[in-house]
Amino acid sequence: MKKVITYGTFDLLHHGHILLLQRAKALGDHLTVALSTDEFNRGKGKDSFFPYEQRKLILEAIKYVDEIIPECSWEQKIADVQKYKIDTFVIGDDWKGKFDDLKPYCEVVYLSRTSDISSSQIREYYKNHLVI
Ligand code: CTP
Repeated sequence: MKKVITYGTFDLLHHGHILLLQRAKALGDHLTVALSTDEFNRGKGKDSFFPYEQRKLILEAIKYVDEIIPECSWEQKIADVQKYKIDTFVIGDDWKGKFDDLKPYCEVVYLSRTSDISSSQIREYYKNHLVI
């Protein structure tokens, strides 16, 4: 069985996320998503709309996702690859080259990002269109 892993926040799930997950799953038989925790995001100065447990619940309903683990630090990737016997690490090409240090441990694939959509864009849109 070929095992694939990807990392991210997956807040305000959108079609760019789904296309990433679909293509990631197509690279193997089993897809693990390492989902950024709220604490980890806070450390990056990122504040998601949906908290971890809700983002996890939504991802669990996606047919491409087989397993979800928490992403708590930048440094955990090599340990995850070894612990979960991962064959392929996948992430969007906004991260191109950033995780090449994983290459001795597994295949590293950067997938093209879907244009014109992001969680930040959705957050920004609702901030500007909110009528109370
Ligand atoms: N992704 C993608 N296409 C998009 C947006 C995201 O392929 N239009 C991918 C990212 O490259 C990453 C994964 O989806 O591999 C999760 O990205 P995440 O940062 O959670 O999503 P964004 O929408 O980019 O969120 P933000 O704007 O908060 O950075």
